Amino acid sequence: MQTKKPVAYIPSIGKTVVKKVGTRPEKVIDLSLNESSFGASELALRATRERCNRLFRYPDPASTDLRNAIGQAHDLDPERIVCGNGSEELLDVIGRLYARSGDEILFSEYSFMQFPIVAMRVGATPVSSREENLTTVVDTLLDKVTDRTKIVFLANPNNPSGTHIPKDEVRRLRDNLPAHVVFVIDSAYAEYADVEDYSDGIELVEGFDNVIVTRTFSKAYGLAALRVGWAYTSPSMAGEVNRMRGIGNVNAIAQEGAIAALGDPDFVKMVCQRTSEERQWLTGKLASLGLTAVPGVTNFLLVRFPAKSNHSAGAAIGYLEKCGILVRDVDDYGLEEYLRITIGLHEENQAMIDGLDKFLGLPDVG
Ligand SMILES: Cc1ncc(COP(=O)(O)O)c(C=O)c1O
Repeated sequence: MQTKKPVAYIPSIGKTVVKKVGTRPEKVIDLSLNESSFGASELALRATRERCNRLFRYPDPASTDLRNAIGQAHDLDPERIVCGNGSEELLDVIGRLYARSGDEILFSEYSFMQFPIVAMRVGATPVSSREENLTTVVDTLLDKVTDRTKIVFLANPNNPSGTHIPKDEVRRLRDNLPAHVVFVIDSAYAEYADVEDYSDGIELVEGFDNVIVTRTFSKAYGLAALRVGWAYTSPSMAGEVNRMRGIGNVNAIAQEGAIAALGDPDFVKMVCQRTSEERQWLTGKLASLGLTAVPGVTNFLLVRFPAKSNHSAGAAIGYLEKCGILVRDVDDYGLEEYLRITIGLHEENQAMIDGLDKFLGLPDVG
């Protein structure tokens, strides 16, 4: 199965500012972009402010201190870490390095939107494999591998489903991919995945020259505005990604903020703990409203709404927006019956549940 052409990925960032809701100026509750409502560590905020006093100085183009700090935090060789302007830049660089027109880039059915976009940008063909229960199936993915497959992208956990596959399955996927295929494990939500059978896949890089793991500071670290991601891979692939990335790709403020954030692991632990509690609370509340959330391990939930009714996902998103609450439709993924809802602070989640309660209380005219 080849995927349909992806529409341009234009996140609703413009909506996240304070805007007029109805007749009252009111702060919008933005649960649409999987950002962290818990914000960033005070240490990171202080470090970024401090670096603003030296704006005339260029950043270190090699992000040396940041790579050392990541290496120390994760017990990794800094020489094999490449930092990027968000992990998004790194995914893009990987596409430009390893695929071109006539090649195929493979991922599973409801994978992160950037994967088909990377394929289209380099003129490669995006190919997708069937999922079961909105979860990657390793065997159907492997069945789609051909001589033309150059990259396999796996978001684990995935966005927009929030589901993951166990580390043994990721290992099996790696072990069964031909050596000519670059295997990218996008672990953007790794910090949140509080389940025994999960791994970000870093251990799968060892001994292989075709495996690359990407991580980000945009989610649990709450540094989305800074745009800092990183990749860990073999020495030779790290060299290739380094030569292709932008020279000053991670700005100085971002480097300082991310280094300081790594110095506050308790903050990230707190964010993940509270997110997990809120995820459980929300799942229960949604169930009591008659709505099912896909069981996920991230900072968002994919929630199913009744099809073809005035309680549909499309109607719900409009109603919530009128209440000043933004969530994400996933029509562009072909999931018209679902909404993706970021897990926010408790009061934000409560407001969203209250909004849905009122919405579902409206008479259903079918
Ligand atoms: C699965 C996945 N990978 C990567 C990214 C991009 O993250 P970054 O902010 O590091 O570019 C996102 C952002 O939402 C994501 O959901």
